[in-house]
Amino acid sequence: MKDSILFQSTQLGPYTLKNRIVLPPLTRSRSSQPGNIANDLMAAYYRQRASAGFMVTEGTQIEPRGQGYAWTPGIHSAEQVEGWRKVTDAVHEEGGVIFAQLWHVGRVSHNSLQPGGEAPIAPSAIAADNVSVFIETAPGAGALAPPSVPRALTTSEVKEIVQMYAQAARNALDAGFDGVEIHCANGYLVNQFISAHTNHREDEYGGSLENRLRLLREITQAVAEVVGKERLGVRFAPLFASTDEDRVYLGLVEENPHETYVEAIKILEEVGIAYLSLAEADWNNAPELPETFRSAVRSTFSGKILYAGKYTAERGVRVIEAGWGDLVAFGRPFIANPDLPTRIANDWPLNPVDPSTMYGGTGKGYIDYPTYE
Ligand SMILES: Cc1cc2nc3c(=O)[nH]c(=O)nc-3n(C[C@H](O)[C@H](O)[C@H](O)COP(=O)(O)O)c2cc1C
Repeated sequence: MKDSILFQSTQLGPYTLKNRIVLPPLTRSRSSQPGNIANDLMAAYYRQRASAGFMVTEGTQIEPRGQGYAWTPGIHSAEQVEGWRKVTDAVHEEGGVIFAQLWHVGRVSHNSLQPGGEAPIAPSAIAADNVSVFIETAPGAGALAPPSVPRALTTSEVKEIVQMYAQAARNALDAGFDGVEIHCANGYLVNQFISAHTNHREDEYGGSLENRLRLLREITQAVAEVVGKERLGVRFAPLFASTDEDRVYLGLVEENPHETYVEAIKILEEVGIAYLSLAEADWNNAPELPETFRSAVRSTFSGKILYAGKYTAERGVRVIEAGWGDLVAFGRPFIANPDLPTRIANDWPLNPVDPSTMYGGTGKGYIDYPTYE
């Protein structure tokens, strides 16, 4: 694969990427406690993977209420900013480019993870079903649990959330990140506003598609003012379900995904952000993105387009050569293969991923996957 398009450098905003292979956001739940602070172990993990052309951190909560799983790192306290600096220094020493993924889970959380044990926040007081959160049951030990019933944000609280994203983006720059990605995928807060299934609001943030996209617009604009539009990406997970089971994804139903996401992407184009990341459904027999949608995305958005979701190197090359995208992310393969780009370049075999060490724990299954000998 050495001579393939995956190894042709490309420009992302001000950055010249050495290849088109991306480390996508991957929650690994190994921050230091108390305080959800990025640490030396995490710096070692990201350093190992800095041969990626482009890296995005695991989701990092922008405020305490933004957390939905035990031990995920935040980016709202001074200690957390200091912790992230270890990660960005390590990656920069290896010549990598790394953005922070700004995350707010909204209703996909549990009272025990919320300040004061309060209800999680959401566009409307509708609990997520078909989805689990992960709570701490004893120090270092945890269990899956159903999300708690959320409470609806007031209109002025929604506006405060926009400012929290802007502040988190400032914190990301202070921590040495090269830019930020706004997590608008996978049924979390921004996605909960976009979907009519989870957004029953009657103010300017609910009702029409334009209103349901207002939070996305305001956050994207506010964060672009902080980091610059050329250092900004947005992640969506448009779901084109073919069965009723598929239609419920993180407890959230996507209606009219083509129209919804083309409209959403028009907003990103207006703001002029550097890239759009599309997370495709990644479970077994998951529905694929229709080619009509991929073409519509390409003709709507002039920035870089990044695809993820069960990609092989061959499939990644096809998507780039078809003109639909520019960058390809490999999630589980990058967890298990710190030297993934070298392995792809040389057509070497890949280590299998161990699902039992994905979330939480030590360096085992985190920084001890071997490079190819
Ligand atoms: C362990 C794990 C954690 C993940 N955490 C995040 C996350 O924090 N933010 C996000 O946007 N996507 C997250 N994802 C989705 C991945 O970024 C990616 O889209 C997905 O793994 C599909 O790619 P793959 O088939 O190459 O693994 C996660 C996936 C896995 C397996």
